[in-house]
Amino acid sequence: MKVTVVGAGAVGASCAEYIAIKDFASEVVLVDIKEGYAEGKAMDLMQTASLNGFDTKITGTTGDYSKTAGSDIAVITSGIPRKPGMTREELIGINAGIVKTVSSSLIEHSPNVTLIVVSNPMDTMTYLVHKTTNLPKNKIIGMGGALDSARFKYRLAEAMEAPISDIDGMVIGGHSDKGMVPLTSHATRNSIRVSEFLSTERLEQVAADTKVGGATLTGLLGTSAWYAPGAAVSALVQAIACDQKKMFPCSTYLEGEYGLNDICIGVPVILGKNGIEKIVDVPLSDAEKAKMQESAEGVTKTNGLLEI
Ligand code: 2OP
Repeated sequence: MKVTVVGAGAVGASCAEYIAIKDFASEVVLVDIKEGYAEGKAMDLMQTASLNGFDTKITGTTGDYSKTAGSDIAVITSGIPRKPGMTREELIGINAGIVKTVSSSLIEHSPNVTLIVVSNPMDTMTYLVHKTTNLPKNKIIGMGGALDSARFKYRLAEAMEAPISDIDGMVIGGHSDKGMVPLTSHATRNSIRVSEFLSTERLEQVAADTKVGGATLTGLLGTSAWYAPGAAVSALVQAIACDQKKMFPCSTYLEGEYGLNDICIGVPVILGKNGIEKIVDVPLSDAEKAKMQESAEGVTKTNGLLEI
């Protein structure tokens, strides 16, 4: 199993590290445009192999996509991250050109690759890959909901003073500060609805804190987060690589599901060896349906800024 990670910055390198530690891939290739940077990150990570106990071979290359040839899965993290006060949508001008070039270069050397898009604004970047490549829609996946759901579970556990391992919850919709839809009606603590433990007001605060989870960290760190984004995308890579049939909220191209068309937005999907193997139609409350519709309007508006 060969995995390429484009962008050896904090998110990409964290993703590569988590993939290596899970040891399900034979090879991870890190790609960056900064001379020597991917090679250095790969060498540093390889020098943890005897300490962290993995045999995955990590290599790096400065922009030579021939080194990525035959990749089964490729992760696109390249592009600029947010600065404090910025929205993800403000990154579109620079990141769209990068994502278009990178996806084309990856597919040229790995025609059957499954692409996972992380670069922001992620739903729109995922849509851009759909519109500018010939990859089938099951092989184009946007990572946002897996990260947002992890933040949702963190906030739920915090509110209930519960271990995160007891919590389950999912965030669907657009990966944006205003567009996320935390499914509070479905969240559970060890199979019991969280509404049995938290007031409506506290649950609303949990949802609000979840939606700005990325911005909160950007304010603290001065740049976008990387540990949780790297861990989230490595979980998607593993689900595909190991044919796990796990369900994650992922940005995928919709053709009528959830009443939406010609859009990439976060919905529950089953991930396996064929990428997105099924879009799962979960029952939504009227309020959640309205929020999903509003979220889709926001993503469509951002898509309109693309020059395809
Ligand atoms: C985040 O929410 C980078 O969009 C990513 O942290």
